[in-house]
Amino acid sequence: MSGALPADGDLGAWLAGLRPGMPEFAATARAAVFLLARHERARETFYADLCEVLLPPGLSVGSVVDLGCGAGNLAFELAERTGAPVTGLDSDPWLVRWGERVARGGTFPFPVRLDAARFGVATMENEPSAESVRFVLGDLHRPPFVEGAFGLACLVNVLDSLPDPAAALEQAAALVRPEGWLLFASPDSWHLSATPRDRWRITAGDWDALFASAGLETVRCADDLEWRLKDTGRLHHLYRVHGRLLRKE
Ligand SMILES: C[S@@+](CC[C@H](N)C(=O)[O-])C[C@H]1O[C@@H](n2cnc3c(N)ncnc32)[C@H](O)[C@@H]1O
Repeated sequence: MSGALPADGDLGAWLAGLRPGMPEFAATARAAVFLLARHERARETFYADLCEVLLPPGLSVGSVVDLGCGAGNLAFELAERTGAPVTGLDSDPWLVRWGERVARGGTFPFPVRLDAARFGVATMENEPSAESVRFVLGDLHRPPFVEGAFGLACLVNVLDSLPDPAAALEQAAALVRPEGWLLFASPDSWHLSATPRDRWRITAGDWDALFASAGLETVRCADDLEWRLKDTGRLHHLYRVHGRLLRKE
């Protein structure tokens, strides 16, 4: 998929032209759930809860990378809380473009899913974050960053959609400087189409064994965080998420 997002004033007409089966339809559906979560962040507090429960107040992180950042929901939360520069990396160009749109700030229209076949338009208001949050299109297995470049790397709600979660975890840990931090969360929403069954991690203990073998020490745990994503107005997904703050040896 190529091209830019439609101009703000053209969004409604552009959405009206989308049909299920079109690549832009599926991409817009993926973006819509994250954009709505950002818009409703005062009520849909997963990203704030994750930071509140796992990040000690005043944690000094230097710079942050959010791997598999989606439309940047966590990246914006971290930039606001830590004041650190945050880089969001994702392989989905549509999510990256919407993330950049959110980062520019102001008042702007965004797509909401009305039902399985139609989108509507809602309006979001954001403080500009472009100075502190930047987005990079890329693959977290081959990140375009040098090893040890970040004080905090995040792998939030992404490992359970990868073919080899252990390899991705090691790659993420390599980006963290010695004694730096890794923020992890997973809803464990595994699918055979993404991850072979023998690589699924179902319990908190399964994850802890993986962290230990990657040289990551568990500092804080939260095993029952609620992550809600609203799809259509009448279809919401509610996940129970394992969260960890890990320290690199
Ligand atoms: C379930 S979403 C979670 C997004 C975000 N971390 C959050 O919690 O809002 C998983 C994200 O991982 C991204 N992703 C999947 N495989 C990836 C890869 N190999 N490299 C970079 N991003 C990837 C997807 O495009 C998607 O945005």
